[in-house]
Amino acid sequence: MKGGTVFLIDQTVLPFKFSIVRSKSHFETCTAIKNMTVRGAGAIGGAAAYAMAQAFLEAPEKGFWKYVDAAKARIAATRPTAQNLFFAIDRTYQAAKASKFPREAAVREAERLADRDSEACKKIGEYGSRLIKSGFNISTHCNAGWLAFVDYGSALAPIYRAKKQKKKIFVYVDETRPRGQGAKLTAWELKNEKVPFAIVPDAAGAHFMSRGLIDIVIVGADRIAVNGDTANKIGTLEKAIAAKRYGVPFYIAAPTSTFDLKCSSGRYIPIEERSQDEVLFQEGLTEKGKIEKILIAPKGSRAFNPSFDVTPAELITGIITERGIVKPSKAAILKALKV
Ligand code: MRU
Repeated sequence: MKGGTVFLIDQTVLPFKFSIVRSKSHFETCTAIKNMTVRGAGAIGGAAAYAMAQAFLEAPEKGFWKYVDAAKARIAATRPTAQNLFFAIDRTYQAAKASKFPREAAVREAERLADRDSEACKKIGEYGSRLIKSGFNISTHCNAGWLAFVDYGSALAPIYRAKKQKKKIFVYVDETRPRGQGAKLTAWELKNEKVPFAIVPDAAGAHFMSRGLIDIVIVGADRIAVNGDTANKIGTLEKAIAAKRYGVPFYIAAPTSTFDLKCSSGRYIPIEERSQDEVLFQEGLTEKGKIEKILIAPKGSRAFNPSFDVTPAELITGIITERGIVKPSKAAILKALKV
């Protein structure tokens, strides 16, 4: 953020175009979160903190708190699943509320949270890379790389670290239908980082595992309940079930801002339902180099589009956090979070 403007990488046009969106008010930042210009739990959290700071900067002297409170509710209503969003809104709001200079305090806290996110992801890379041996084939789902956070990423941070350590690695990237975060964003990141990879159909995970081709699965998280149940992009659950069946270690990578201590189990994690158009239409580059949207189903078809699923703790080998690798159990989680 510079002044009252937030600068966001437009993730809706990647990998075909790199452009920066300038968001001049908290209203515009809310729209950017909603339409997924900015997406991924950590990046949503960063954007939400800045949106909150923008609201403090915009608020008129008269009716200051009324304006700010309405903005807070508006930001919280953008997307329901990623805990990082609620964590960031709350921290920024509370920091401002506790200060004599709420505007300055809100901006400072948003900056601090962004730095904290980046630092946490760097540490996740350090802890997670210890699980990766040279020669490993790694499977990942969706995009939990540096686009999905302020920097480094969660699930991809250990991969980047392992690459820096000169380990020989290969990544199986799930396409991640319907929006294609794997094929579009993870593939683009890995290409930029010069990590060898192949994009695979979402449904191919069990096949590769059954042939012994995957050594470890590392995915991100949008919300983790106190008992270790974890919400992540739709399709994660199937991957975890297959990993259990074929004895492949299945890890979640997430900063502690993704844990929801008010949520006792995955059953209570709100699952976002997105537009059926995301399933019925696909967007890509034409031969003429234009980004276009095409219908891929019979006209008038219905589609269901739950955006996340919940993987039960029993299918998770461990959770890679900035505080180390945590067992997916209530006792271990509370201990790691020092509650
Ligand atoms: O709907 P999105 O693209 O915002 O999805 C969130 C995610 O990026 C994933 O579920 C990811 O694996 C965890 S968050 C980095």
